[in-house]
Amino acid sequence: IEAVLSAGPLQGRRVLVTSGPTHEPVDPVRYIANRSSGAQGAAIARALAALGAEVVFVTGPASVPPPGGVAVVCVETAREMLAAVEAALPVEAAVFAAAVADWHVAGASARKLKKDAGGLANLEFAENPDILARVAGMKKGRPRLVVGFAAETDNVVENATAKRARKGCDWILANDVRHETGIMGGAENAVTLITGEGVETWPRMGKDQVARQLAGRIAAALA
Ligand code: CTP
Ligand code: CA
Repeated sequence: IEAVLSAGPLQGRRVLVTSGPTHEPVDPVRYIANRSSGAQGAAIARALAALGAEVVFVTGPASVPPPGGVAVVCVETAREMLAAVEAALPVEAAVFAAAVADWHVAGASARKLKKDAGGLANLEFAENPDILARVAGMKKGRPRLVVGFAAETDNVVENATAKRARKGCDWILANDVRHETGIMGGAENAVTLITGEGVETWPRMGKDQVARQLAGRIAAALA
């Protein structure tokens, strides 16, 4: 009876969540990063696990601890995150909540760059792999449901709708990350869910609540 009671709607379903920023090394003492606490990703992983899912949580160096009850894979760079994601496949659903750096420093220095030798102005950058687009575009073994985020400051729904099409993901959660919204680093989120069916703006609520709502929708989609 206990086993039956604890069997959530995602029991036996393997899902993946990416979370946190990535850090791209410049030299042994410096890195380039995106701003991300990892709070929303951790909440999503926790909510999916609470519904019974077997969660693989691939996280960059976040400032909040990973949730319990999930398999945690810690990475530093976008390239490491891609490798960890590929190693975690196959999964039934994948949520890409990480704030992945779009570029890394080509030929990061093994020696500390000194101020008097030109410094950062001489750095060259190379584009990072787009992990979400890669997984969404898989010909074989694609997760049944691929969910991305779109952090925007302008034309939020329009940009996020275009992003969904460009990346080939099923759903995108758009959020307005203008500084004055207090969302980055805060406890609340205001998201718009964009699916093939249309656009739904959710009221502003706690990141935990956003996570529970999303997890419920994922469970319904996989059922
Ligand atoms: N993403 C990813 N790998 C990258 C860049 C982004 O997996 N190298 C994922 C993010 O986790 C997020 C989604 O793609 O789910 C959108 O990220 P975002 O930075 O908003 O989109 P970009 O395509 O990088 O466009 P831009 O930063 O120019 O707005
Ligand atoms: Ca980006």
